[in-house]
Amino acid sequence: MKVDVRQTSLPEADAALVAVGLYEGDSLPESLADAPGAGDAKGSFKTLTRLYPGGPERLLVVGLGERDDFEVEKLRVLAAMVAGEAAKLEAASLAWALPEAEDEEAAAEAIVTGTILGSYRFDRFKGGGDDDVPEARLETLTVLGPAELAGSVETARIYSEAANRARDLQETPANFAKPEDLAARAEEIAAGSDKVAVEVLDGEAIRAKGMGGLAAVSQGGPVDPRLITLRYAGGGSGPTLAFVGKGVTFDTGGISIKPGAGMQEMKFDMSGAAAVLEAFAAIVELGLPVDLITVVPSTENMPSGTAVKPGDVITQYNGKTVEVNNTDAEGRLILADALAWAIEQGAERVIDLATLTGAVVVALGSTYAAVISNDDALATEISAAGEESGELVWRLPLHPEYKAMMKGTVADLSNLGTKREAGTITAASFLEEFVDDTPWAHIDIAGTAWDVNRAYTGKGGSGYGVRLLVQLVRDLAGRG
Ligand code: BES
Ligand code: MN
Ligand code: ZN
Repeated sequence: MKVDVRQTSLPEADAALVAVGLYEGDSLPESLADAPGAGDAKGSFKTLTRLYPGGPERLLVVGLGERDDFEVEKLRVLAAMVAGEAAKLEAASLAWALPEAEDEEAAAEAIVTGTILGSYRFDRFKGGGDDDVPEARLETLTVLGPAELAGSVETARIYSEAANRARDLQETPANFAKPEDLAARAEEIAAGSDKVAVEVLDGEAIRAKGMGGLAAVSQGGPVDPRLITLRYAGGGSGPTLAFVGKGVTFDTGGISIKPGAGMQEMKFDMSGAAAVLEAFAAIVELGLPVDLITVVPSTENMPSGTAVKPGDVITQYNGKTVEVNNTDAEGRLILADALAWAIEQGAERVIDLATLTGAVVVALGSTYAAVISNDDALATEISAAGEESGELVWRLPLHPEYKAMMKGTVADLSNLGTKREAGTITAASFLEEFVDDTPWAHIDIAGTAWDVNRAYTGKGGSGYGVRLLVQLVRDLAGRG
C-alpha cells in the first residue's frame, strides 16, 4: 500500500473515502457541521457514521470513545474497521485525519498498521468471481497531519507489510510451503541487502553436523529439512541478538499422531519461522543498528516406517541425549539444535518464537502469548514492546521443579513431562537446557499465531511476532 502524510484541511482532502475521529462529547469540526446526517454522528467507540458533505464527497465519522480512555490499540481496531468500509465501498484511496492524541507518532503508526493489517486478504488460490471477495483494493492511505510524521508512517508501513508477508507464509498450505520454500524466502531477503548473509544446511549437512533433533523429526517423511541462518551486520553498540523461529511446515504429530479434526491447522506450525524471517526483513529495511542472527529449523513431522518412535534416544547438537517419549513434542527437539547453533554462531541474547504447546492456548487464549525467560531485563523489554505494539506477552515462571519433570529415564532428558500439568513451562524448561547462561526468552505463540479475531487480524494467520520483535529492536536501538 502507498502511504503518505499531508497537511490538508478536510474539505480539500482528495480521497475516495475520508475518515475523521470524534471523541465522545466533542462536536464535529465546523466544516462538517452542516453536512446531511451530521446530527447523527456519535463519538462512542466503534460507531461509524457516513456523511456526504460535498467536499470531500464521502466521509466517515469514527467514534473514538472517551478522550480519557484513549489508547493507540483502539485506533488500530478502528483503522481496520474503516479499511473494511473502504473495501465495501470499493474505495482505492483513503485519507485519515489524525485525531488529537498525546503521542501523535504512535497514533499515526496505529492508523497505518490497522489499515494495512485490516486490508489483508489471502486469495492466492481463489479463482475470482467469489462474491465475498471485493475486486477493488485500497491502494493509498494518506494521513492528514503534520509533515514531521512522515518517518513514523513509513516505519509503520514497513513493519505492517512485513507482518502481512508473514501471514502469506503462514497461510500458504504445506504442499506449497516446504522447508526449501522458507529457505528460498531467506535467500530472497539476503539478496536484497549487502549487509545480510544467508547460510542454508540441507538434510545431509544437518545430519553430518549432529543436529539430532532436526534429523529425527524429519526422518519420517520424504521432504528434506533445512537449517536456515541469516546474519545482519547492522552495527550499533549492543550485544548480538538472535531470533529463532519454529518452522514445522506441517505437524501431524508423527507416530504419536494427532486426531484428524482440525489437523489442517497444523500448516500454521511454522508461524514462528514466518515471524522471525519477516521481522528480520523489516529490521534490515529500517536499517536499525543491531547485529542480528536469525535461525529457522524447518521440517515436516510425519509418521511412517522410518519415523522416529516413542522411546528412541537421540543426541542434540550440544551433545545432550533425549528420549523422544512423544513424537508430537517435536518443536522442542528442533529448537534445541537451533538454540545451541545460534549461541555457537555468536548470539549473546536469544529470543525464540514457536507454536509450541496447546497448553498455552488453554492458559492465555489468543490475547497474550506466553514469555518465559532466564533474564528479567530481557523479559521486561519484551513485555514493554508488547504493550507498545499491541502484540501482548505475559510472563510465566521457570523453577527447578519444572525442570526436574523433563529428566530422562535412560537419557539426559525426556521431551515429554512426567506429568501433563504446566505443559507450556515444562516445554520451556526443556529448551533452557540448550542456552547455557545466555540471556534467552522463549515466546509460545500457539494461541496468538492464527484466528485471533481481533479487528485487524481476524481469522487465519495473524503475523504475530513481527511487530513485537521490530518494536523490541527499535527500543533496544533507542529508536522508539
Ligand atoms: N504444534 C503443536 C502445538 C500446538 C497445538 C500449536 C495446538 C497450536 C495448536 C506441538 O508440536 C505439539 O503438538 N505439542 C504438544 C506437546 C505435548 C505432546 C507434550 C501439545 O501441546 O499437545
Ligand atoms: Mn507436535
Ligand atoms: Zn508442532
